[in-house]
Amino acid sequence: MNEKTPAKPEIAPVDFEYASSREATDLVEIDDSYGLWINGASRSPASKRYFSTINPATEEPLARIAEANERDVDRAVKAARKASDSWRRTPGKERAKYLFRIARMIQERAREFAVLETLDGGKPIKESRDFDIPLVAAYFFYYAGWADKLEYAFPGLKPEPLGVAGQVIPWNFPLLMMSWKVAPALATGNTVVLKPAETTSLTALAFARLTAEAGLPSGVFNVVTGAGPTGASLVAHPGVDKVAFTGSTAVGKAIQRSIAGSPKHLTLELGGKAPHVVFDDAPIDQAIEGVVNGIFFNQGHVCCAGSRLLVQESIADHFVDKLKRRLETLRVGDPLDKNTDVGAINSEAQLDKITELVDVGIEEGAGIYQPACELPDRGYFFKPTLFTGVSQSHRIAQEEIFGPVLSIMTFRTPAEAIEKANNTPYGLSAGVWTTKGSRILWMADRLKAGVVWANTYNKFDPASPFGGYQESGFGREGGKHGLLPYLSGVR
Ligand code: NAI
Ligand code: MG
Repeated sequence: MNEKTPAKPEIAPVDFEYASSREATDLVEIDDSYGLWINGASRSPASKRYFSTINPATEEPLARIAEANERDVDRAVKAARKASDSWRRTPGKERAKYLFRIARMIQERAREFAVLETLDGGKPIKESRDFDIPLVAAYFFYYAGWADKLEYAFPGLKPEPLGVAGQVIPWNFPLLMMSWKVAPALATGNTVVLKPAETTSLTALAFARLTAEAGLPSGVFNVVTGAGPTGASLVAHPGVDKVAFTGSTAVGKAIQRSIAGSPKHLTLELGGKAPHVVFDDAPIDQAIEGVVNGIFFNQGHVCCAGSRLLVQESIADHFVDKLKRRLETLRVGDPLDKNTDVGAINSEAQLDKITELVDVGIEEGAGIYQPACELPDRGYFFKPTLFTGVSQSHRIAQEEIFGPVLSIMTFRTPAEAIEKANNTPYGLSAGVWTTKGSRILWMADRLKAGVVWANTYNKFDPASPFGGYQESGFGREGGKHGLLPYLSGVR
């Protein structure tokens, strides 16, 4: 290298070396109890109530979390309203500085955030380390870049922030879903009240402290913790201008009904039952890896999980045999173990739901296959599961299981693949495996899905919009499209 070449800005390498889960746990500081994050500081809840969050891999309590009632939500929304005037007038290039700083600080603390995400939610550390946290930083970097370019993004128009955004997020990708909502909201000059999911509040609260250290003005970002009723209070608050929700279709519909007729803006990112279509000319080994990743990534707690495998009849037996053999090699267990492929189910309620739907699959006559792996004695775990002989009317072919369970069906022609793929009320994502480029385009035109992956699966990039239609919701997150839900005067 030429001596005069300027040194690249160094990002401290993140050390993920630890000898045991216990040692990993010692890497993060967890308080005994957490207040609500309102107006730049932690506050005791007016409700005086707390609930506990546990580590789903051990069932041990991690901390107590404040439960926000209507008064608490009101306090948070008022703080966000008050901060809104000056934040919306802050020049875009200044707002960008905060977001760039936040993005860098997330990178610097990647280890702490990854371990905390894994402890509180059960996902394998290799996923929080290599997927969630790097992407969280990437979304903040990406939207920081838009903050001073809104007039260029929407030439001839006058983009204006909406005001206060009330954002309700799920437990499957806690920080990542937060970043998809918070980064574009702040970049466009909105202020935020965030309601994380009740089983995974810790990383949002750690992030709140980070925003204070980054110097973000008080009230621009607030967190109210609690369960469904807290989320409902936030959505219903008259001081909220924009509601963004990711979660179940049932709650999404309830939210839409509850704000119908109000001037609130709404985006919904809901469930899915994605088809993963494998043609007989597909590169089989890669397709096997894609299918495994599509359904077992994050224990299948993924809205875009490839939960219905449609494999062409001529290769079906061979493909399913290979898939079964691959399942035998998946390591299920301690999420903090760096070799773990499938971690803990997020909650007992979710484990019950998965168990119930798997029982339904057996009763409906599908053939079940599970590898011979042993599950830990404690914590919520479920074996990677395949169902063969599934018919389209089976509940396991129609309903979102949101667990490590794949329903396998076959098809003969591309037209039949499309017909089966589109036969659900959802439309979030889809996957296609084939070596023919023309077939990929033909399929992508006909698949009812917001995102179609070809010869890959679960690939994300901040520049790429994501979202569904039909019962998977509406509105886009990511890319320039992701700015639209937070602005008026644009299209
Ligand atoms: P949920 O939809 O109840 O929870 C998502 C978020 O919404 C949480 O923060 C929750 O506290 C909040 N919430 C619940 N009721 C609310 C209400 N009435 N108003 C406002 N906010 C409310 O999902 P849940 O019960 O945790 O999981 C049930 C099923 O939903 C899962 O089995 C899965 O099928 C689906 N799901 C889908 C997700 C996705 O990303 N598409 C994420 C989470 C769950
Ligand atoms: Mg938890």
